[in-house]
Formats: sequence, structure tokens, C-alpha cells
Amino acid sequence: MDRLPQHVSIIMDGNGRWAKARGQERVFGHRNGVLSVRAVTEACVEDGIRYLSLYAFSEENWNRPKEEVNTLMQLMGKAISDEFENMVRNRIRLMVLGNRSRLDPMLNDTLAHIEETTASNDKLTMIVFLSYSGKWDILQAAKKMAASLSAEEIEELDISGFDRFLVTAGIPDPDLIIRTSGEQRISNYLLWQGAYSEFYFTPVMWPDFRKPEFRQAIKAYMERDRRYGKVK
Ligand code: IPE
Ligand code: IPE
Ligand code: MG
Repeated sequence: MDRLPQHVSIIMDGNGRWAKARGQERVFGHRNGVLSVRAVTEACVEDGIRYLSLYAFSEENWNRPKEEVNTLMQLMGKAISDEFENMVRNRIRLMVLGNRSRLDPMLNDTLAHIEETTASNDKLTMIVFLSYSGKWDILQAAKKMAASLSAEEIEELDISGFDRFLVTAGIPDPDLIIRTSGEQRISNYLLWQGAYSEFYFTPVMWPDFRKPEFRQAIKAYMERDRRYGKVK
């Protein structure tokens, strides 16, 4: 059990293709993807995984057709609100990280309320990356650092000192990053935090990724040999 990952992160990809293969609109895939989020969250609670993070919407995803962006935002607001009771019951803490200034004010209020209410929950921390990109995160961290530290303090700053300016401050780096749908790229996700993450790629589309697929990924992770550049 000591090999169980502390933090599992998922690039949830393939909703559109999953829907298209069924002759449906892309939104049909997004809706079914919500059920996978629920399944994977349950598996984390059952198996004792402490952090689950999900790449739900990238900064680049704003460039999709307006209609898809609107539907996605509505769907995410609803999905998160619908899970609120469940989060309270299962002691799940919600954190939403990303460029919050780009989100609709109403959505921001709803999310802020859920984040505050669940802030002391300690069973599982569920992090939803919304309007997030790795380069954006590093840039906003650099700006925050420059605004809050003197030149001498910046000179003395080390890696963990810089960590605290990232939106993920206080959250352990992901042990495992899963990407569904067969794509094998990072798509501007956790560029800094994923420096030593293990990667798991699967051809399974996100709406089909449920508890058995998740547990298979965890099993594969537990068989990996993490060396961090050292000799073992
Ligand atoms: C993932 O599925 C969901 C988001 C990126 C918001 P996609 O919408 O990217 O689906 P594909 O990759 O086009 O199939
Ligand atoms: C990555 O998926 C972003 C999310 C899953 C939220 P994309 O579908 O946007 O990535 P690309 O465009 O295939 O790299
Ligand atoms: Mg995609």
C-alpha cells in the first residue's frame, strides 16, 4: 500500500470523438464524461487516494466554438453543484484552480461557496483545473513573486520557494498523470509540477474510463520504478 500514489491527475480527453462515433453531438460526450468523473472520484475515496486532479478546461479551450464553450461551462457548473452534497457526505474538499478571472462571475461565486464549505474536508482533495495552462501558471507565479519579494529575496529563492507562488501551492506534485483517448502529449498541463510524474496513456475515451480502467492505471503505476535521476 505504500506504493499507492498520493496524487493522481487526469487529462480527461476524447469526449468529442466518443460522441461522434455514436453519431451524436460533442456535448453528448461531455455529459457522459461527467459520469466518469463521478466513478473515478468514488474509486479514489474507496482506495484511499488523497488527491485527485482533473484537467477539465484549458486556456486554449477558450478558442473552441462559443457554443461548445458555453455548454461546457454550464455543464461543469451543474456537475460540480450536483456533487456538492456528495462532497460533504464523503469529506471531499473541492479546489478549482486556473485563471478564474476568465470565468463567469456567477460560476465563480458558486465555486467559491463550495470551496469554502468543503475547505476543512480531509478524506480526498479534488482539484478541478479550469481555464488552466501550465505556462499561464508559471507566468502568474513569476509576476506574484516579483510583486511580493525584494531583489535580494528573489536572488535567494529556491525551487520550493517558487512552488508557493503557483496555483497548486501546498498540493503535492502529481505522482501519476493519466491521459485518455490515445493522445500522447501534455497539452500545456502541469509543466512545472509534472517534472517527475509517471505518465499513463490509454486509448480508452474519457466517457468509457470508469473504475476498472482507473484501477488498471493505478496498478501499472505501482509497478513503476521511480528513480528521480538517481542510481538504484
Ligand atoms: C475532452 O474531450 C474535454 C475537454 C477538452 C474540455 P474533447 O472535447 O477534447 O474531445 P476530443 O478530444 O475532441 O475527442
Ligand atoms: C486537453 O485536451 C485539455 C483538457 C482535457 C481539458 P485537448 O483536447 O484540449 O488537447 P489537444 O488540443 O488535443 O492537445
Ligand atoms: Mg481533446
